[in-house]
Amino acid sequence: MKKYYVLIIVLLFYTTNNFADTYKNGYDLYYQKGCNNCHGTHAEGSSYYPRLANKDKKYLLKKLRDFKAGKARSQKAQIMFTFANSLKKKEIEELSLFLSEFKKDMSTNYEISDDLLGGSN
Ligand code: HEC
Repeated sequence: MKKYYVLIIVLLFYTTNNFADTYKNGYDLYYQKGCNNCHGTHAEGSSYYPRLANKDKKYLLKKLRDFKAGKARSQKAQIMFTFANSLKKKEIEELSLFLSEFKKDMSTNYEISDDLLGGSN
């Protein structure tokens, strides 16, 4: 019986660690690739660009794979071709996991301060 406990602990450790790594890689990619420029610091989107935060992972994966394959439903969405094209398979998975599990507090590092934007407060 003891053996099984050890095995379960090892497995749990491995999967949670793996999750954290993938999430972190997706997080880095999101800002390095400049996705935030259109989809927002918190992936919240705007009136023009769709929100990505906490959307279904399968949906995000499908969308990014389609864009990479040159498939889009509208001319507007063709903007995504260049961005998706620059992503490796693994990066698409990392971004999709990160976005589907998006936690707002992590992205505050990338918040643009009002000073930079010329705001008064
Ligand atoms: C220049 C602006 C721009 C950048 C940068 C950009 N996107 Fe997009 N993205 C768009 C537009 C425009 C659409 C399509 C909106 C539509 O279908 O009407 C879109 C759609 C998407 C969708 C589909 C969302 C949905 O709900 O249908 C995903 C997923 C996505 N982008 C991910 C990303 C990722 C990941 C990056 C960074 C690698 C990125 N985008 C960078 C403009 C951008």
